[in-house]
Amino acid sequence: MQQQYDQYTAEDHRVWQILFEEQLEQIPQLACKEYIEALDLIGFEAERIPRFTDLNQRLGDSTGWEIHVVAGLIPVEEFFQLLSEKKFPASTWLRRMDQLKYIEEPDMFHDIFGHIPLLILPEYSDFIQAYAKMALKYTHNEKATALLQRLYWFTVEFGLIYEAGKAKIYGAGIISSPQESRFSVSDASKKIPFDIDVIFNNPFRKDDIQNEYYVIDQLSDLADCIPTVEQHLQNLIQKGLGDVKPVR
Ligand SMILES: [Fe+2]
Repeated sequence: MQQQYDQYTAEDHRVWQILFEEQLEQIPQLACKEYIEALDLIGFEAERIPRFTDLNQRLGDSTGWEIHVVAGLIPVEEFFQLLSEKKFPASTWLRRMDQLKYIEEPDMFHDIFGHIPLLILPEYSDFIQAYAKMALKYTHNEKATALLQRLYWFTVEFGLIYEAGKAKIYGAGIISSPQESRFSVSDASKKIPFDIDVIFNNPFRKDDIQNEYYVIDQLSDLADCIPTVEQHLQNLIQKGLGDVKPVR
């Protein structure tokens, strides 16, 4: 499958522009410095939806990632397989004008604006690939996979990071939502220090903005914690993963 660029309507480009401009204005205050740097490197434009071929060129020249077009959500094994090969699954459709605030299914604004910029940074690129390779070892175990999906959810999708004592955004699920961007770093949100076991015990919600956010101290914490994550996972598997519900 490929991005059918000519099929985007004027309203699609307008939706991209509205979301993009709102985020561009508030991101300098809300996002982590790595995302801001990456956004500059990836080179989106306000007036038009990006062409995946252009993004692939820039990713290819830096970290070697490419966008892999999918129709919608894909099985978790296929998802981690693609990430392990530096292929990022992305949809091509865009939310409608009346869905600007929140959508449950990831659209291309989420996939592209939220996820793609950080993949141009070697440190983040290495983390995603390493996490996927580790997760692939457990895809035969539904409950173990559910725990790894929780950790992915509360980091890659909804993670915050401390910068000079202030929580900033790096998670794609937050950064692709103007409303949640403001809420997540505000005093109104619940922020919890990053803790693997606490996250393993927290089934996430998909139907609304998050109840709590886990905060790391620096981006390198993500890659650094992978061996510990695997160790904790193996301990839990040995003890039995009784009441873990697989993600549907
Ligand atoms: Fe996502």
